[in-house]
Amino acid sequence: MEFKRFGSTDLEVSRVGLGCGGHSRLGLVNGGVSQASSIVSHAMDLGINFFDTARIYGTEEIVGEALKGKRSECVISTKTLVMDRQGSFLSPDKIVGSLEKSLSRLRTDYVDIFNLHGVRPEELDFCLENYLEPLLREVAKGKIRYLGITELFGEDTRHEMLEKVLEREIFDSLMVGFNLLNPSARKKVFPLCVEKNVGTQIMFSVRRALSNPEHLKKTVGQLIENNEVDETMLDKDNPLQFLMDEPGVRSVVDAAYRFCIREPGVDVVLTGTGSKEHLSENVRALTGPVLSDDLLQRLEKIFGGVTTVSGD
Ligand SMILES: NC(=O)c1ccc[n+]([C@@H]2O[C@H](COP(=O)([O-])OP(=O)(O)OC[C@H]3O[C@@H](n4cnc5c(N)ncnc54)[C@H](OP(=O)(O)O)[C@@H]3O)[C@@H](O)[C@H]2O)c1
Repeated sequence: MEFKRFGSTDLEVSRVGLGCGGHSRLGLVNGGVSQASSIVSHAMDLGINFFDTARIYGTEEIVGEALKGKRSECVISTKTLVMDRQGSFLSPDKIVGSLEKSLSRLRTDYVDIFNLHGVRPEELDFCLENYLEPLLREVAKGKIRYLGITELFGEDTRHEMLEKVLEREIFDSLMVGFNLLNPSARKKVFPLCVEKNVGTQIMFSVRRALSNPEHLKKTVGQLIENNEVDETMLDKDNPLQFLMDEPGVRSVVDAAYRFCIREPGVDVVLTGTGSKEHLSENVRALTGPVLSDDLLQRLEKIFGGVTTVSGD
């Protein structure tokens, strides 16, 4: 496993992070708590020290239990939503209350990164005006080490919220949607992260479009219809078949993770799975050889201008 300094923090993080949410939520739905906690333990065995969870994933307790006694070896990132179910902003007290609940579920007295979860561009100003000061007080108390924010990539496929965030220096961690179908963060987000030394966690490297052939066909069909992809450049029925011509590529998923990890500006690539076998494969992909320049150029030619899909 490769480790690196996370942005300007003093966190030393594994380049591969375990995503404890997404559609798989550690396999909690199908495999229950024991399967989910075995995924966390397997991640530790593979050398992963970075765990991303959230109140709404329902996996904080599992992470806390599985990492018991190993807290100082791990970096934990968790999140609070900013809206309630009725679509009203949470009060600052509720945001701090959410932190307290996370600490209790995670069985810890501090989180390494506390994120505002899935913030839309139009919600950002309210969040900064109302939540920043109370959260900085929690930082001063030692309950939060660093503050982060995550975009709602399913809607905000052009990274408008993160572009606004990067105009100022507020957060130590940004969670960014990035994959070979929509690599727009390469132009809009990563250069400023490098310049300002802000840590990045990558989500949506694979998601559904890159792990399910039917989703892939549908997504690429949509991109052709939007005139974002030239249909003469790929096979509409099997759009990423050409990835298999690259020596060493085992699957679309394998290539998709490898695509993300070597990108300048990327610190941690999160992988979300409910399967130990998949986790081992994904760590092998993310710690293995880089994709060739020829393949990266071909992908850039086909998908380099895409901004309208998340790959979900
Ligand atoms: N706005 C936000 O804050 C936000 C939004 C989304 C995600 N996140 C975070 O980002 C993390 C990563 O996102 P993600 O969970 O969507 O992860 P991802 O790594 O992009 O994709 C995970 C999907 O790919 C499948 N998969 C993984 N490895 C596979 C393999 N080797 N072969 C075949 N299929 C494979 C998984 O299914 P299997 O279970 O079958 O492996 C799962 O459906 C989340 O867990 C969460 O922590 C944050």
